This record gives sequence, C-alpha cells and structure tokens, in this order.
Amino acid sequence: MMSSTAAMRDRIAMYNGNALKIGIFGANCSSGRSATTVPERWSASWPDCLRLARMADEAGIDFVLPIGRWKGYGGDTDFHGSTLETVTWATGLLGATRRITVFGTVHAPLFHPLIAAKEFVTADHIGEGRFGINLVVGWNEGEFEMFGVTQREHDTRYDFAQEWLDAVKLAWTAEDEFDFDGRFLQLKHVRANPKPYGETRPIIMNAGSSPVGQSFALRNCDAFFVATAGSRTSLEGNAKKVSEIKRAASEFGREIEVYTVGQVICRPTQQEAEDYYRHAIIENADWGAIDGMLAIKNITPQTIPPEEYAAKRRYFAANAIGGYPFVGTPDRVAEELDSISKAGVRGIALSFVNYLLELPYFCDEVLPRLARLGARAPH
Ligand SMILES: Cc1cc2nc3c(=O)[nH]c(=O)nc-3n(C[C@H](O)[C@H](O)[C@H](O)COP(=O)(O)O)c2cc1C
Repeated sequence: MMSSTAAMRDRIAMYNGNALKIGIFGANCSSGRSATTVPERWSASWPDCLRLARMADEAGIDFVLPIGRWKGYGGDTDFHGSTLETVTWATGLLGATRRITVFGTVHAPLFHPLIAAKEFVTADHIGEGRFGINLVVGWNEGEFEMFGVTQREHDTRYDFAQEWLDAVKLAWTAEDEFDFDGRFLQLKHVRANPKPYGETRPIIMNAGSSPVGQSFALRNCDAFFVATAGSRTSLEGNAKKVSEIKRAASEFGREIEVYTVGQVICRPTQQEAEDYYRHAIIENADWGAIDGMLAIKNITPQTIPPEEYAAKRRYFAANAIGGYPFVGTPDRVAEELDSISKAGVRGIALSFVNYLLELPYFCDEVLPRLARLGARAPH
C-alpha cells in the first residue's frame, strides 16, 4: 500500500503529471468572472455547469474552482446575482466526473466547522479523493449583514479561520473523542467519522492578499492563489515572486504551490480575439455592477477624484475581475501560459465569457501546444 505521504503528494498533484495545472474558475456564478451584458454571458445554471465539468474532465482539465458568493453586485445584470452553493455543487460534479479535482469555497465564519468537516468528507468520498477546499474569511459586508453575522476586524478573521481549520483537521484525524477549547470555539466530546478518502485529506487553498491573509496561506495551505502572477510582468518578475513565496513557506517548514487566475479570449486571429475582448469586457461592461464592486471597497466618485475613478473603473473591468487577460491566438495564449509555468507557477484558474462555447477551442488548440512546449503532459 502507498504511504499516506506519497498518496497526499499524488493528491496535491491532482493525480497527473501536468507541470502547469489548468482549472476553470467561477462557473457557479452568473456571468462567471466577466461583468458583461453580452447576451451569451454565462448562466451558471446547473445543466450548463454539469456539461462544462464533464467536458473539462474529458479534455484533461485539472480542477474546477467555484466562488463562494451569496449576494449579487447589482447593475443591469445583477452580476453574481444567481449562484450555486459551492460544496453541494462540487459534490454533484464529483459524482458526475472521473478525474478532475473540484473545490468547494467556504466562508469560515458562516459554516459550523463540524458540519463543514463532515460535508467535506462526504464530498471527498463521493469524489474518491478529488475534493479540495478554498477557505475564505469574507470581505463583503453586505453578505455578512444578510446572514445577521457581524464581521470581525480584518486580522481577527484570520485568527478565527485558524481555529476553525484546526478544528476541521482534528475532526479529520482524531481517532478518539476530543474536546476543542479555543478562543472562539468550544467543542465538547467530538466524534467524527469517517475520515477523508484514502488516508489523505482535501487539498487546501486560500487567496489572502493582506500580510495576515498571506501568512495564513503560508501556514496552512497546499496551494496559494495570487491574483497578479499573469504574464503582465516579466518571466523573471514572476519567478522572483514565486521563489519568495516558497522561501517564506519554508520558514514555517512548509511546501506551498503558487497558483494564479486569468481570463481567456482565444480566437484564430489576434484581431478577432482583441475585438471580442473589447466588445464583451469594455464596450458592453456592466458598469453598474463594477461600480457596486468598487463601492464595497469604498472606491466611489465621492471618495476619489473623478479622473482617478474613471481610470480605476476601466482597469477593474479590464484586468481585475477576471485576472490577467490572455487575449489572442492559440500560439500567443499558449506561449503566455508556458511563460508563467516556466516562472514556477504551478497552476492557473481560468474563466471564459461563455465557458461552454469557448472551452472546446481552448482544449483543442491551446492544450496540445502546451504539451509541445513541455508545460503539460500529452492528453
Ligand atoms: C483566486 C481567488 C479566489 C477567491 N475566492 C473567493 C471567494 O470565493 N469568496 C470570497 O469571499 N473571497 C474570495 N477571494 C478573496 C480572498 O479570499 C481574500 O479575501 C482577498 O484576496 C483579500 O485578501 P485578505 O483577506 O488577505 O484581505 C478570492 C480571491 C482570489 C484571488
């Protein structure tokens, strides 16, 4: 029998030899990662999600990462107004797929850790070791207000998340009944069986960007998602960033993989790709939704000068919501993805304006190029 360390390594590698892991990001939310009014924008309906996950699984895509979102951002489309809850969504998709890793995204303050631990184990058994967790602490005040839950002060959210995750991990591993007596959580005579699948545990990821959020990721996560490791910066710049993160993790005695996010618009010619990017992401942006997202971050025409606001709004639509835009021909998109792989980035979660319409072209044209470049194993 394989040792549990080797089994965990396989699991973190998503059970394949691809150097660059590729995932689908945000498909459980209406409009995905594109605040656009174009009619083909993403529905996030269950039948569409199911077809997408099966297609991705068949094509050798490595993982699916949803967004934990409870409330829309308004605007003409009510961006993210329709969302499927991520752990139940992941469980359904795991039952319908064979190879792909599926994450669930949980807000620690909104889920009781023992309910969460058992949901994760259930999903993990259904997926036979393919379930992963994105642990988030929340940043969107309106969502918490909706639950009647008061947000803790920023850094304390991560103290709470630490305790929450410690309790979940204990429930996954403790052979005997245990008590948990923390600053926030007091749990008595806890019993939790079964344990996660195959003497391993779900992959844990996080995307904190503040110093405290990053430190939480370094101490606890297998995969750390950073929003800015696109090919916007140089190969050397990305490589430096990756090695800094790995070095910082090693100070905690840990190994961590760096992931990032991006949006793909891939077409046979550069002109077609750029035209569609401008059409969908800029000319038909849902500006009301973008204003709503910025307002949550306290960026409004009242808080900053109008020209600065106009520039922020445009930047947000063009680069921030979906992550770095990979816009171009299959050759160009493959080269850019290969460049981040060469910089040591372990994987990337990608979004498309309409995932189902656009994924086949990406898989047919970009994946084989990545295999030829050595970033992925041939499928
Ligand atoms: C790839 C990625 C996925 C994220 N997913 C979610 C999510 O599903 N729900 C959420 O509330 N926040 C999500 N976030 C926000 C982060 O968890 C985090 O709160 C944010 O980056 C701010 O960092 P901080 O908490 O350290 O201040 C995500 C961020 C990134 C880059």
